[in-house]
Amino acid sequence: MTALHALWMGLVLLGVLGVLQTQAQAPVSLQPNFQQDKFLGRWFTSGLASNSSWFREKKNVLSMCMSVVAPTADGGLNLTSTFLRKEQCETRTLLLRPAGAPGCYTYTSPHWGSTHDVWVAATNYDEYALLYTAGTRGLGQDFHMATLYSRTQTPSADIREKFSTFAKTRGFTEDAVVFLPQTDKCMEERK
Ligand SMILES: *[C@@H]1O[C@H](CO)[C@@H](O)[C@H](O)[C@H]1NC(C)=O
Ligand SMILES: *[C@@H]1O[C@H](CO)[C@@H](O)[C@H](O)[C@H]1NC(C)=O
Repeated sequence: MTALHALWMGLVLLGVLGVLQTQAQAPVSLQPNFQQDKFLGRWFTSGLASNSSWFREKKNVLSMCMSVVAPTADGGLNLTSTFLRKEQCETRTLLLRPAGAPGCYTYTSPHWGSTHDVWVAATNYDEYALLYTAGTRGLGQDFHMATLYSRTQTPSADIREKFSTFAKTRGFTEDAVVFLPQTDKCMEERK
């Protein structure tokens, strides 16, 4: 596996993969009046869209993962995700630093040193959130992805439609959008 593929895989598993922003791309609009405290708690990664080759290969074998979002001392987010890997539940944490406007964050991979920006493009806090992530420096600069977070493992048709529309707006084709199947594995919140 190349380093780049390993980085993408890590980001996909954590459910924050987004689009790698190119200079020409318009900035993503953010959820107006984003309230971080209402965004905290448990989310399921129930939809993804990406044009990376890794994603194209793996999209049919991915399933939902659970993430718990907590505030950090610097005003950012601690995103701890649990997923099944080699028959075991694994937990990984991403620390997102605040990056200016509310709802906009930056993630620097401690391992690869690359930087990704994460935007909360839309959310109603108690049902869904649409996220967009873009690499800005280092590995993964030609990679882009959109993520659907839902509060339950069964997002409504209306929410799924919102995500499809959002992904298309971000330039993804229909076949680059996937809704992840439910799983009962690794869905217990660790105390
Ligand atoms: C993915 O899309 C971005 C933005 O449109 C583009 O720059 C990049 O080359 C694409 N990557 C692949 C692997 O198609
Ligand atoms: C992030 O959250 C996890 C799970 O609650 C916790 O174990 C970890 O210490 C937290 N890390 C930071 C830096 O806040």
